[in-house]
Amino acid sequence: MAANQALRQLVPPSLSAKVEGSFAYLTVRDRLPTILTRVIDTIHRNKNKFFEEFGEEGVQAEKRTIGFLSKLRNELLTDKPVLVLCDGLEDTDSWNQYLQRQQRLLGERDPVSWFKSPWLYIECYMYRRIQEAIWLNPPISDFDVFNESKTQSFFESQQAVISLCTYLQGFNRNMDDLSETQLMEQFHKLLQVSLWGNRCDLSISAGMENSQKASPIDSLSDLKSFILVDDSNMVWSALTSAQRPGEDGKTTPGRVDIVLDNAGFELVTDLVLANFLVSAGLAREVRFHGKSIPWFVSDVTAHDFQWTIRQTLAANHKWMSKSGVQWQSYVRDGVWSYHDHPFWTMPHEYCDMAGDAPDLYATLQGADLILFKGDLNYRKLTGDREWDHMVPFDRALRGFGPAPLCSLRTLKANIQVGLQPGQGENLNTQEPSWMTSGKYAVVQFSSPHREQ
Ligand code: F6P
Ligand code: MG
Repeated sequence: MAANQALRQLVPPSLSAKVEGSFAYLTVRDRLPTILTRVIDTIHRNKNKFFEEFGEEGVQAEKRTIGFLSKLRNELLTDKPVLVLCDGLEDTDSWNQYLQRQQRLLGERDPVSWFKSPWLYIECYMYRRIQEAIWLNPPISDFDVFNESKTQSFFESQQAVISLCTYLQGFNRNMDDLSETQLMEQFHKLLQVSLWGNRCDLSISAGMENSQKASPIDSLSDLKSFILVDDSNMVWSALTSAQRPGEDGKTTPGRVDIVLDNAGFELVTDLVLANFLVSAGLAREVRFHGKSIPWFVSDVTAHDFQWTIRQTLAANHKWMSKSGVQWQSYVRDGVWSYHDHPFWTMPHEYCDMAGDAPDLYATLQGADLILFKGDLNYRKLTGDREWDHMVPFDRALRGFGPAPLCSLRTLKANIQVGLQPGQGENLNTQEPSWMTSGKYAVVQFSSPHREQ
């Protein structure tokens, strides 16, 4: 135990834009201002809509919001100190306390600023400031600045969505004839579809179109060699060992929580996986966790979740629409549920969750398996730190483990743990951008009992 505690204290520094030329530096210097410019442009393009809805008051709010966001972009570009939030919302105090925490870490000499602070903090802060600009300017406070790109990405993936729903309905019809081995094979396939669905986020492309065109199932075997760590057998074991004998003699499966990432095609892959888990008797309940505010361009909010199910249901395609009907009935019957919590849009590493969001931690403890989707969740799981590639995943989690968990992530930030000796070095030589191109992926599992 003492050895474990000592290990936890040996923590490498956070990734930061202060390292010139690093991916964090380039993100803060180039990608974040581009995203802000696109947000400003979106608000401007919606001026007529605001006028139609709210009259002159809407136009004035549009102007003020653009003023706030232009100031924000200027603060970022000129490395100004990070400012306290002043919108008086549920999480405002926590954000301001977090700023004080960062200031203490930095010492009193320099103020916490955009290029000198941890990248994870700064990037989350930008999205929270965008939201502040919107909230402080009623009557347009409900406007989701990323909604257009999220819906566009859904429609652009239509063919891939149709082929996935057709595939899902195909084995749903034959589920009873599947042997245990065939069931396991289907599970592995759909887990991989959900994994590769994570390629389609709109933050890495600074909001530019990045949707799935090809049939996802057909590409799986070609993509297999790009999975650097594949713990999916452990995920399967976690699911099957969660099955308990019920009073009626039948087995009852466990609860699976999915911490969602992006809307559009990725969300459909997650819903298809969740549908399979329930219909195959591998989960009795699936809880989805999403964001309570628009986040990192494409992340799922409650509205995106419901909208996606409604669109699928209303599709002019038999199997797509049948999938939507099924999903809606899962939601209606409480088999599926959507949850959000302010902690998901805070900048904390997940090892802080037990202390800073004990209610959320306790909720997650009720799961038999938690799937964490995407790159940002991986950064938060591992603290977004300069870990050596060979550090075990369990160690990088630094005690975070409310339940058995698995990260399904395509690599889009320069952090990766849990590799074999030499694996990282080889990739560095062959393909210097391997950690940020989205070409590689990991399925990394950890169980609370396996901490090292
Ligand atoms: O802006 C960088 C980043 O945080 C990267 O980590 C990643 O490219 C993206 O944003 C978010 O990716 P994801 O949607 O997979 O969490
Ligand atoms: Mg995302």
